[in-house]
Amino acid sequence: MAVSLFKAGVNVGSSQFLGESIAKNGQSSKVSKAHRVCFSVRAGSYADELVKTAKSVASPGRGILAIDESNATCGKRLASIGLENNETNRQAYRQLLLTTPGLGEYISGAILFEETLYQSTTDGKKFVDVLREANIMPGIKVDKGLVPLPGSNNESWCQGLDGLASRSAEYYKQGARFAKWRTVVSIPNGPSELAVKEAAWGLARYAAISQDNGLVPIVEPEILLDGDHSIDRTLEVAEKVWSEVFFYLAENDVLFEGILLKPSMVTPGAEHKERASPQQVAEYTLKMLKRRVPPAVPGIMFLSGGQSEVEATLNLNAMNQSPNPWHVSFSYARALQNTSLKTWKGLPENVEAAQKALLLRARANSLAQLGKYSAENESDEAKTGMFVKGYTY
Ligand code: 13P
Repeated sequence: MAVSLFKAGVNVGSSQFLGESIAKNGQSSKVSKAHRVCFSVRAGSYADELVKTAKSVASPGRGILAIDESNATCGKRLASIGLENNETNRQAYRQLLLTTPGLGEYISGAILFEETLYQSTTDGKKFVDVLREANIMPGIKVDKGLVPLPGSNNESWCQGLDGLASRSAEYYKQGARFAKWRTVVSIPNGPSELAVKEAAWGLARYAAISQDNGLVPIVEPEILLDGDHSIDRTLEVAEKVWSEVFFYLAENDVLFEGILLKPSMVTPGAEHKERASPQQVAEYTLKMLKRRVPPAVPGIMFLSGGQSEVEATLNLNAMNQSPNPWHVSFSYARALQNTSLKTWKGLPENVEAAQKALLLRARANSLAQLGKYSAENESDEAKTGMFVKGYTY
């Protein structure tokens, strides 16, 4: 409902409409300067800082380590190596990842869950300080997760706008400099017009609120891999979704130079009969992005969405074979963490090996960001897909 009201509001602000309404009131047929509506791009007092932050995250050869799993999702990861889901184990796992020596060479930002943002290492150093010293920007997941969207085709919408401004101001004080809001669009369930509009509107409101509070918003409408549709259908849906997202970002006066995007790659559905090569994924994904994303946006940081570690890296590498208008990089969770988690197994004596495994993936994706990656010598584990039907993050 908010969306349709807003669309109606678009004309109200235009000088043409103002001119007509003034003429109707019999005052003048021309819009005087004093009456002209001014459309400023609003990012509050943080504009310069937002641009700097976004550029630093989108710096050559680097990308984002996403470790913002909610406590429930982190619990699933820990369960896969036989560990209990408690704060001590979550802290130990995040400490392992964040203190990996040399990580800042390949990783420019780390997305944290709220619990992690306020945690410290076992030696008492705040995680945000560990990151700062490694030249890695701390980021924070700010959405409150997905719930069913009434009136849709079993689709969902993303909660979290209530209280977001004050939460964001607190996160900034704690050291966060960018934020993430993940909503999803399901191809097999529609997507319905309603679900796409709701996703786009929520992302735009979140982006404006984040920028007002000094956080660079990562805009993430994840188009889920679920389904047996073709790559052409994914392209069609992705174009629709991103056009709505940019429409509402603009309507909310979001500063494009101070945002980052986190799209899904354009691939066939996970259950489609044919797989796409990295070249085909790159061709479709870049075609979609070039049609929809203005070059003012500094960085495109892909999610991995259930692809295997190697597949996600190969696809990114294929997208960086020729220059792009934006920095094209990664913001992977599963495709960076999987081997590291399996190597760790919750044992202190495996921490070093697990950190090496993370660094290996970070370096591989850094090379892919530069278009220089080769999959030679990759392990079978790294080639194993991680798609889970109906996956909830
Ligand atoms: P995956 O790379 O596992 O799909 O995670 C995406 C995400 O949104 C994490 O922040």
